[in-house]
Amino acid sequence: MKVLVIGGGAREHALCRSLSLDSDVNALYCAPGNAGIAEVAELRPVDPLDGAAVARLATELHADLVVVGPEAPLVAGVADAVRAAGIPVFGPSGEAAQLEGSKAFAKDVMAAAGVPTARSYVCTTPEEVDEALDAFGAPYVVKDDGLAAGKGVVVTDDRAAARAHALGCDRVVIEEFLDGPEVSLFAITDGVTVLPLQPAQDFKRALDGDAGPNTGGMGAYSPLPWADPKLVDEVMASVLQPTVDELRRRGTPFSGLLYAGLAITSRGTRVIEFNARFGDPETQVVLARLRTPLASVLLNSANGTLDTLPPLSWREDAAVTVVIASHNYPETPRTGDPITGLAEVAEMDAPHAYVLHAGTRSEGDEVVSAGGRVLSVTATGSDLAEARDRAYKAVARIGLDGSQYRTDIAAKASQQR
Ligand code: AMP
Ligand code: GLY
Repeated sequence: MKVLVIGGGAREHALCRSLSLDSDVNALYCAPGNAGIAEVAELRPVDPLDGAAVARLATELHADLVVVGPEAPLVAGVADAVRAAGIPVFGPSGEAAQLEGSKAFAKDVMAAAGVPTARSYVCTTPEEVDEALDAFGAPYVVKDDGLAAGKGVVVTDDRAAARAHALGCDRVVIEEFLDGPEVSLFAITDGVTVLPLQPAQDFKRALDGDAGPNTGGMGAYSPLPWADPKLVDEVMASVLQPTVDELRRRGTPFSGLLYAGLAITSRGTRVIEFNARFGDPETQVVLARLRTPLASVLLNSANGTLDTLPPLSWREDAAVTVVIASHNYPETPRTGDPITGLAEVAEMDAPHAYVLHAGTRSEGDEVVSAGGRVLSVTATGSDLAEARDRAYKAVARIGLDGSQYRTDIAAKASQQR
């Protein structure tokens, strides 16, 4: 099978790594990719938001499957363009991707499907904003309605800051604060059949102890030793299947990866958000644990034949990933700094620990930083403590001037069994 992956972050590196290890895949391309992905896939230049260009590239390469990684191309309808060219694509249509592209749309789908989520108001005027803020009280949760690369949500006790964020957006969702640990649960679906993956936990804040601003995600681990073993079945029945059924009922079936961001509250599990694609950095740890070869799972989603697949198989291993971010991330990250230590990790820590590239590019013989999140150092082990230990040993070998990472990824969970 010839596979073309669209995107160029650590999620796409994790996808390409898994696909490169799958014996069903005999040619693997990534567009535009990054310096690390170039080691496992052939890179092609493309504007990932240009559906016609992506479809043309897939046709030229005789791709049997296109996998669209990031949300922006999905919301822009890139999967529709590829599908229209007659090529199977893993990823939802632009209409179905509104589940991520518009928080108000997601709330509407959840209400219709009876999916538990925070109570909320959609506001477009200062009067509506004030009313909603007062209705819920502190802590205030204010979400830009549109795509904002993980930076559109403000959670704060400061009413003035909450109000200022709301007034800076065209349309906002203001909602009730959900207390409790967060879980990311992904499911692969073809619009009818839903296959849940293993749950993971992401660390959204920039600094240790969940301090600092929200980011795209600073690390992740899986499995979750503290979670109820029934969690996946419960979320399948109360969230994932009803959402997929509701989108099909509306005539906009969702196929691809449905990401449920959940809060485990004292009053039960609630959806914080949906995404329409694999999460980053959770994908790095979930795929590290998936034993089933990935390509056929994605192709069966694309072809609407997931019901023919045997159940997914998982390794006993635990996995941890630690994100190394640029100086000044998430504000205005500095780029162009050389990265050292990559060869040392490959030589001394493989196969248990390895580096997935997020924002990198090659410059002559060097690999330099090219984005906010630069690397996602991933490791597996017999338990979280071992995986964590291996991940941080590898992190310590990496040099990147001014870079930052959290030191507490999976720290608490690794002490639980
Ligand atoms: P989102 O982009 O919707 O995932 O929000 C980003 C982060 O903001 C989430 O991962 C949570 O940590 C936090 N958050 C979002 N909604 C809520 C809520 N209703 N209550 C508490 N925290 C929230
Ligand atoms: N890890 C959060 C996200 O992918 O949106």
